[in-house]
Amino acid sequence: MKPHIRPAGKEDFDDLMELENICFKEEKFHKKQLEYLLFKARSIVFVASTENNIVASIIVLTRKNISHARIYSLNVHPDYRRQGIAGLLMDTAEQSLKERGFKKISLEVGVNNKAAQSLYISKGFSTDKIMKKYYKNGDDALHLIKEL
Ligand SMILES: CC(C)(COP(=O)(O)OP(=O)(O)OC[C@H]1O[C@@H](n2cnc3c(N)ncnc32)[C@H](O)[C@@H]1OP(=O)(O)O)[C@@H](O)C(=O)NCCC(=O)NCCS
Repeated sequence: MKPHIRPAGKEDFDDLMELENICFKEEKFHKKQLEYLLFKARSIVFVASTENNIVASIIVLTRKNISHARIYSLNVHPDYRRQGIAGLLMDTAEQSLKERGFKKISLEVGVNNKAAQSLYISKGFSTDKIMKKYYKNGDDALHLIKEL
């Protein structure tokens, strides 16, 4: 069954935590961080869900009176990759941002994360600058932007 894209709700917290643990090692969110992102921050969160599970998510951070949003997290369960799900989540988030009047999106991606870079380039992002030693393991990140 093709996953269905919808806004995240409080009931998705445990599934999102599990997905985070499956998709990331060093850079994953801890429980408190995820709680903050989902319930307190000015975030826009969409998930891809099957009947039983959440298989992908996107978290976009926004700030009051600032027309620039930031994709903070995007992950897809390994069993569901290369099916266009990340692309759909990005399109859904982008549409929602446009409707709310946002003008620009940015994100950071690891210099070695070629899969994610290909996705973002295919979605019209371009490299703005390199952020040296951005990640805990010392890897650099590319800062990408897209005008909406
Ligand atoms: C990066 C990630 C989100 C992509 O999710 P996905 O659902 O597989 O991506 P999509 O199927 O929507 O891919 C869309 C396009 O992105 C590119 N792409 C995605 N995965 C790729 C890969 N492994 N290698 C090369 N290109 C890739 C392709 O251009 C692809 O189009 P195509 O399948 O028609 O060739 C997923 O691999 C993931 O969760 N990785 C671990 C977490 C992560 O790195 N998140 C991003 C942090 S910045």
